[in-house]
Amino acid sequence: MTIPIKTGAEIDGMRLAGRLASEVLDMLTPHVRPGITTLEIDRLAREHMVNVQGGVPATLGYQPPGYPAYPASLCTSLNDVVCHGIPDDRPLKNGDIVNIDVTVIKDGWHGDNSRMFVVGEGSIAARRLCQITFDAMWKGIVKVKPGARLGDIGHAIQTFAENAGFSVVREFCGHGVGRRFHEEPQVLHYGRPGTLEELVPGMIFTIEPMINAGRREIKEDRKGNRPYDGWTIVTKDRSLSAQWEHTVLVTETGYEVLTVSAGSPQPPAFAPAGYGGATVPAAAAT
Ligand code: MF3
Ligand code: CO
Ligand code: CO
Repeated sequence: MTIPIKTGAEIDGMRLAGRLASEVLDMLTPHVRPGITTLEIDRLAREHMVNVQGGVPATLGYQPPGYPAYPASLCTSLNDVVCHGIPDDRPLKNGDIVNIDVTVIKDGWHGDNSRMFVVGEGSIAARRLCQITFDAMWKGIVKVKPGARLGDIGHAIQTFAENAGFSVVREFCGHGVGRRFHEEPQVLHYGRPGTLEELVPGMIFTIEPMINAGRREIKEDRKGNRPYDGWTIVTKDRSLSAQWEHTVLVTETGYEVLTVSAGSPQPPAFAPAGYGGATVPAAAAT
């Protein structure tokens, strides 16, 4: 495995791309209300990325091997959609939950992040799924420091989500990110402590768990006799699914979350305050 290590100006480039990706979500937040369509959200985001940020939506035309070119500037994954939902002309309804996943390219660097939105008033069950998934992402983030292993991250996420009664999607994972949208390493959201690649300062990857309220199995979304759109993934049992995503840098002492802006949700109480969770040695703490 060759995991790119970023230094100096490269990290600065990733900081900017990460902040811009987060600011797109900030900008969208007041618009995510009953009645708006996901296509309207897509247009707002694209115009902001291109005209305000001087960036490029990474997903537009993105075509990994075996996939059709992705047709939109972000992903909108609604209710039982696990990931890669394509914006369309259906209005959001009260009680929907939707993941909005934005990746901005700025000066060649990719910032990749997503958040959950509860449309209007969500059920207690829907809100709990979104909250537990947010916390699960952070259970992974706080494991990030030199010497830790990718398996530590996956294990922390899996045990937390499963103890809450939910399941972890296995088929999609976090990923290294930089000049390329998806690069090494793969960041599984399940696993065993002490296994897989050791983390080294300068690695940058996403942590983006997909957590299902029901069973973990997924399928392609083939509704009726429509042709498959090539992208949309749903839960096999049609239970709700949630996802959050941050882009994270391994620092000399811990982590720095790069997809941060004024509107970023605060970390949960179990995490250090802020987004640069340097692990201060106990002896040095005052
Ligand atoms: N942003 C997604 C991720 O977190 C990837 C979306 S690819 C698309 O990796 F083509 F579906 F947009
Ligand atoms: Co990602
Ligand atoms: Co993403």
